[in-house]
Amino acid sequence: MSVDVQSLLKTGVSVTDAALERLLPAATTPPSSIHRAMRHSTFAGGKRLRPILAMEAARAVAGVLPESAAELGSALEMVHTYSLIHDDLPALDNDDLRRGKPTCHVVYGEAIAILAGDALQTLAFQTLAQLPAPAPTVVEILRELSFAIGTGVGPVPGSDTPGELPSGMIGGQVMDIEGEGQKPTAATVERIHRAKTGALITTSIVCGGLLGLGYCLSNPEAKTGFTCSHSDAISALRVFGEKAGLAFQIVDDVLDMTQTSEQLGKTAGKDTATEKSTWPAVFGIEQSIKDAEALIADAFAALAPFGEAAAPLKALASYLVDRNH
Ligand code: IPE
Ligand code: IPE
Ligand code: MG
Ligand code: MG
Ligand code: MG
Repeated sequence: MSVDVQSLLKTGVSVTDAALERLLPAATTPPSSIHRAMRHSTFAGGKRLRPILAMEAARAVAGVLPESAAELGSALEMVHTYSLIHDDLPALDNDDLRRGKPTCHVVYGEAIAILAGDALQTLAFQTLAQLPAPAPTVVEILRELSFAIGTGVGPVPGSDTPGELPSGMIGGQVMDIEGEGQKPTAATVERIHRAKTGALITTSIVCGGLLGLGYCLSNPEAKTGFTCSHSDAISALRVFGEKAGLAFQIVDDVLDMTQTSEQLGKTAGKDTATEKSTWPAVFGIEQSIKDAEALIADAFAALAPFGEAAAPLKALASYLVDRNH
C-alpha cells in the first residue's frame, strides 16, 4: 500500500487543530492573559507529529480511527507545547523564536509563560481523564504518559525490557541542561535523546495503540490490524517508537546545523553556540544522517506483526528523517 504522507500530515493537522480549538479555553475566558498565552503557543503552527503518530497507531491497531483519538492526540500536543514553552525559557534554552513566532515568554512575560506551560500540562491530563474510552484503557494511558514525561521514577509500563530504562522527558531536559559546555560521549547523548524527546514520541505511539485496543474491547467485531497478542502489539509499537523517536532527535540536531532560522521557525545554530550534547557533536553530520536512517530501518522491522496496517506509521517514520524543518 502506498501512502501519501503529505495528505496524511495535512488531515492529521486539521483533525488535531479542530480538537484543540474545542478543548482550549477561549482567549477571552478570564484570566485571559494565560489563555491567550496558551493559544499563542499551541496555534503557532506545529507539525502535530505526536498526535498524528498516536492517531495512526490507534488506526493500525483497531482497523479504524477510534473517535476519541483526536482528544488523545490533542492532550499529547498540549504536553509537547508545554515542554516547548518551558524549553525556550531564559533559564533553559533561552530562545526567542518558536514555530515562526516570538516565544511565549517574549510576548507574555516569563511568569505567564511558565504558568501557560503548567496549565497546558494540567489540561492534558484533564482531557485524558475524560476520554470517551473504557476506564481501564484511560488508566493505562494515564500511567503510560505520566511515566514517560517525568524523571523516570515509579513503576515502569512495559517493564519486560529492564536494563535500558528511559528516564523520561523531564529527566532528559535535566541531563540536556546539565550537559551544556561538556564534551558529550555517545552514551550520554543517546540517554539524553531517548529521554528528552524519544520518551514523548514513544508514549504517543503506545498510547495510540492502547486506545486502539480499548476500541477493540468495546467493539468485538473490530477487524484488528495485527497478527500477534495484544501485549506483543503494544511492545512492537514501543520498539518502533523508541527507534523513530531517537532518529527524530538526531535529525533535530542535524537541522539545527544545516537549516536557517527562517526554515526552522526557531533559532538555527543554537546547539553549537551553547555547546549542547548533540548527535553531530559526537559523530558528525554525515554519520548522524546515516544513524537516523538505520534507526528508521530498525523501526520498520519492529512493525512486522502489523503487515499492511503499518504502512501509514512507516510513511510517517520516513518523514521524520526526510523533513527539512
Ligand atoms: C521540536 O519538536 C522539539 C523537539 C522535541 C526536538 P517538533 O519538531 O515536533 O516541533 P513542532 O511541534 O513541529 O513545532
Ligand atoms: C527539546 O529539545 C525537548 C523538549 C522540549 C522536551 P530541543 O531543545 O533540542 O528542542 P528545540 O531544538 O529547541 O526545538
Ligand atoms: Mg532544549
Ligand atoms: Mg531548545
Ligand atoms: Mg533542538
